[in-house]
Amino acid sequence: MKVLGISGSMRPEGNTSILVKRVVDYIEAEGCDEFNTEYISLAGKKISPCIGCDKCRETKWCVLDDDWDDIAEKLMECDILILGSPTYYYDVNGQTKNFIDRTYSLFHDRKLAGKYAVVISVCADRGGERTLSTLEGFVNTHEFGYIGYVAGKGAAAGDVRKDESAMAKSIEVAENILKMVSRTHRDGKRKQ
Ligand SMILES: Cc1cc2nc3c(=O)[nH]c(=O)nc-3n(C[C@H](O)[C@H](O)[C@H](O)COP(=O)(O)O)c2cc1C
Repeated sequence: MKVLGISGSMRPEGNTSILVKRVVDYIEAEGCDEFNTEYISLAGKKISPCIGCDKCRETKWCVLDDDWDDIAEKLMECDILILGSPTYYYDVNGQTKNFIDRTYSLFHDRKLAGKYAVVISVCADRGGERTLSTLEGFVNTHEFGYIGYVAGKGAAAGDVRKDESAMAKSIEVAENILKMVSRTHRDGKRKQ
């Protein structure tokens, strides 16, 4: 059972990364040996915008050459995706949107269908709902099973740690993943 956390923030140690890592780290610590977790930050990665060339209808893979390929390989391998984005102008930030748009290449053959996903947004004040809505649009379009969401508040990097509700909700969704997998794939064992 592979769990992949992706933070779309350009701040490698920002608020989005804190919440995504909190979910992934909890699963790593509390899940049985069957779990394999990985965390990726999109900060510093070159992910160009989709150019709408439609070549992926034939190739079934994006023809642009940058860091998206490696991340998409990991996305294809995972069973459960934890995808987070900061809120920029009431929506996902550009890096997250580029990442999402490029997965159009995986849509034609529904290559992500049947995986599961949690979505996470962080905003300083307002607009986090639309960020979640965009992330849910990605999840629904690709036919992931939707596990739940975390909505955090914070402005400066690290501020989200003071958002007790988001910190608690991160653990709640991680627990839901453990329970869900326990029902379907595990026999109730936890790491010693
Ligand atoms: C370009 C830009 C646009 C932003 N737009 C919003 C916004 O619309 N609403 C809001 O509440 N916060 C907004 N923020 C604040 C960020 O959402 C906030 O700092 C968040 O914690 C960043 O997450 P990160 O640390 O994971 O990058 C914006 C920040 C930047 C840099």
